[in-house]
Amino acid sequence: MAKQDITTRNDIETLVNTFYDKVKRNPVLGYIFTDVAKVDWVHHLPRMYSFWSSILLGEQSYQGNPMIKHIELSRLTALTDTEFSEWLQLFHETLDELFEGENVAEAKVRADNIARLMLFKIQSVG
Ligand code: HEM
Repeated sequence: MAKQDITTRNDIETLVNTFYDKVKRNPVLGYIFTDVAKVDWVHHLPRMYSFWSSILLGEQSYQGNPMIKHIELSRLTALTDTEFSEWLQLFHETLDELFEGENVAEAKVRADNIARLMLFKIQSVG
């Protein structure tokens, strides 16, 4: 069946669940989530559904400050170009596996820009 664009909250949940399944198993990123941040997935996944629904579907349900969270995280573990490149590669790969369309392109651009800004801020605060 031809791939469709991301258009519903259900699509966002599929994207986010598939992405974090890959992240957890990834040798560069997995331990940051499971061992360093000890992420509570029941809490984290719905926040990510809201984050991407706000960006791609205009839902306005996400409230939070991802920049501060990642700056704090970078004090506990190295967050360099290596980790961000891996994150982006997995995210792009997941998008292409599941969907096709304008929101796929938009998600990639937004993720790239946010990642670049996060890395810049992490490097600036030292
Ligand atoms: C090196 C790459 C990255 C790593 C290792 C990473 C890791 C994490 C971790 C461990 C959390 C905290 C989860 C928790 O304790 O609840 C988190 C939260 C989050 N991340 Fe990332 N992240 C990365 C890149 C990104 C990028 C590029 C984006 C956006 C495009 C992003 C968006 C978010 C958001 C929205 C949250 C939720 C913050 C909140 O609770 O409001 N992350 N990330």
